[in-house]
Amino acid sequence: MARAFALLCTLALLAAPLAGCDDDAEPAGPRWIDDVEAPLPDWLSETGLYGRMATFTPGDGVRAYQPPHPLWSSGTQKDRLLFLPAGATIATDDPWAWDFPVGTVLAKTFAYSDIEGRQGAVAMETRLLYRRAGGWGYAQYHWNVEGTEARRRDADWPEEVLELHYAGDLAFPYTLPGEIDCKSCHEAREGPPVLGISNRNLPEELGNVLTGPAQALPAEGRTPEETAAMQYLLGNCVHCHHGGEGNDNATYSLLPADLVAHTVNQPTESSASGDGIRVVPGDAEGSALFEAVVRTREPGYRGQFKPMPPLGIDQVDPEAARILRAWIESL
Ligand code: HEC
Ligand code: HEC
Repeated sequence: MARAFALLCTLALLAAPLAGCDDDAEPAGPRWIDDVEAPLPDWLSETGLYGRMATFTPGDGVRAYQPPHPLWSSGTQKDRLLFLPAGATIATDDPWAWDFPVGTVLAKTFAYSDIEGRQGAVAMETRLLYRRAGGWGYAQYHWNVEGTEARRRDADWPEEVLELHYAGDLAFPYTLPGEIDCKSCHEAREGPPVLGISNRNLPEELGNVLTGPAQALPAEGRTPEETAAMQYLLGNCVHCHHGGEGNDNATYSLLPADLVAHTVNQPTESSASGDGIRVVPGDAEGSALFEAVVRTREPGYRGQFKPMPPLGIDQVDPEAARILRAWIESL
């Protein structure tokens, strides 16, 4: 797919210059982020999110940030951007549903180092979340192999599995999620779909665009092992398992305040794919939570559990096994 796209660019260049096919696309003309009610542009450079694509340099007024508890995405490096209309702020009056102003645009670019024989970060996709007067929307841009431009996938795009490889090495899959997958994670609870900017996961860089102070995480009295597990679960699980209204497994909460009560010596739900005790103190292998996250992804796994998280992983997080084992064995 990426190769076909590069070829398309080459052919288009022979015919007529196209915005998306510059060697080093830089935005000219109006930027979409300044008027999000306009139709989404076909090329990422036209959004204005990046001032210079090849170096991932943010456009004017666009802020780069990093959530303290990130989501693991198959070992990719992720570059996150926030654009707010000039002078606008994020209203924090409701601690569980921060209000992002109309015109907010968030983007996340996924890249690997040194694939396909090239040095440095090679981007695969940029995901967008934006707020119009009529509500929130999603988009996905797929980068060309040169890393100079990315093209928007059509509305209601399906999941697509790419084949990547390190120079001279075996191929490995990378899944571009479909639009429906975005919603399974981003709309699994009430409130805005923004997951990485909240009072439980607040990037340091963004404190100055909030209307009020953020509430800090209750960390007192926790062991280092429990704190590490709590942080991992905050980044990877609580958007679905949050104890509020939302999706079909919402009543099971992995939020810090509920973590121990909802897991330690607690049986899995009757509707779950597997029977067991979520966390058996001292016994990682015998704990359903460890099995669902770690063992389901081992080659030849024959148990009942569905892999967790159920979406967004082609390659296992080696840290997950270490962190969860250390916590369960410390109990
Ligand atoms: C497996 C669950 C999952 C899927 C699937 C998923 N996301 Fe996310 N996304 C997250 C989490 C968790 C964060 C916040 C943590 C982070 O950025 O590492 C996030 C962050 C983002 C951000 C930065 C703003 C924010 O909410 O923090 C954007 C933009 C985004 N996702 C867009 C998308 C789009 C578009 C899709 C579909 C193509 C998608 N995501 C699919 C879980 C998911
Ligand atoms: C996209 C939403 C989503 C995300 C993200 C997610 N889960 Fe789940 N989880 C579900 C659903 C739906 C079920 C019920 C289906 C089943 O049991 O197989 C479930 C079931 C489970 C179960 C077994 C059922 C039970 O009652 O205990 C465990 C354990 C679990 N999840 C742990 C996790 C952990 C740990 C993470 C983060 C590493 C995670 N999940 C991330 C949606 C999600």
